[in-house]
Amino acid sequence: MRDSKGREIDYLRLSVTDRCNIRCIYCMPESGIPLVSHDDVLSVDETVQLSGIIMKAAGVRKVRITGGEPLVRKGLLDIVRGVSGHCPEELVLTTNGLLLCSMARQLAEVGIERVNISLDSLRDDRIRSIARRDVSLKDIEGAVVSAFEAGLDPVKVNCVVMRNINDDEIVEFIRWGGETGVTVRFIEHMPSMLSDDTFVSRDEIIESASVLGEIVRQNDEGTAGIYSVKDTGQTFGIIAPFSDPMCSSCSRIRLSALGILYSCLAEEEGVSLIELLRSDSGDEIIIELVRETVMRKPDSHSGCVRVKMWRIGG
Ligand code: GTP
Ligand code: 5AD
Ligand code: SF4
Repeated sequence: MRDSKGREIDYLRLSVTDRCNIRCIYCMPESGIPLVSHDDVLSVDETVQLSGIIMKAAGVRKVRITGGEPLVRKGLLDIVRGVSGHCPEELVLTTNGLLLCSMARQLAEVGIERVNISLDSLRDDRIRSIARRDVSLKDIEGAVVSAFEAGLDPVKVNCVVMRNINDDEIVEFIRWGGETGVTVRFIEHMPSMLSDDTFVSRDEIIESASVLGEIVRQNDEGTAGIYSVKDTGQTFGIIAPFSDPMCSSCSRIRLSALGILYSCLAEEEGVSLIELLRSDSGDEIIIELVRETVMRKPDSHSGCVRVKMWRIGG
């Protein structure tokens, strides 16, 4: 359906858990996040049922499974199978990759078509200090290979660029993307647990890349602007919520694992649907609320909001 600004809202980001097996410095506190009671989380069946109602109400065509880290969710394969049964035109997933080797094939079997994987450095010491867990480049490269072997392609790799943390790796990442066959997408850091001084803009990313040659902008792909190095043909993406806000063409709504529907990444409150789902009031009232939520989707997000990514799944 179209929202009040005429934007077609057809992309549901479905967060299936707020838990994660690592603690990225820009996302989660080292100690983790406050535990929520099991009863407050949508069950597997409820997740499938509620996502189906939302898809029907808004006319959703694309569903992305997110987290936290979706692969730590018990019953994930049943959720994916159920959502796949609602026949979205695209069913995709974003993961940190750590559990992908053991799950890629099964995910493909139950309906996932492709995956985006997070990786913020190519150096083991940095990967470990960003993830605050014992993760290595080999783990993520293994995840990329399993994704390709399972047919979950094209594979995109998301790299959040942070000043004095990994901003000297742009060129290495572009080369690595070419070698491994993934599309690397650099992301402007959105305000988080880290100081705002870590922000690196799209133009600075392009400037770093231009060591490889002249950088030319290609067509956009969803949130990402796609760029290529003119002489070598190497390509990469940049997701630039600040330098190049995508709000005017945003097509997303988000459902959290607690059954809260958000019309925008930056929204604080959202509308809780879990109790209505558990009551006997029927689908109509939920359908109405979904449509109202879409209609009040804000024009744009204010740049200063600190988003809880683990809750809303990016
Ligand atoms: P594709 O379907 O492959 O284009 O992926 P995607 O970019 O939609 O999803 P992904 O989960 O890989 O998200 C990549 C980055 O985009 C993450 O950093 C998200 O936080 C960010 N992002 C996703 N949706 C929005 C949004 O609505 N607004 C802003 N500002 N950033 C977003
Ligand atoms: N700024 C930009 N991207 C972020 N992500 C998580 N937190 C932030 C942030 N503060 C990214 C992750 C993952 C995607 C879903 O969101 O790296 O790739
Ligand atoms: Fe986990 Fe993703 Fe947050 Fe990193 S960004 S801690 S992988 S939820």
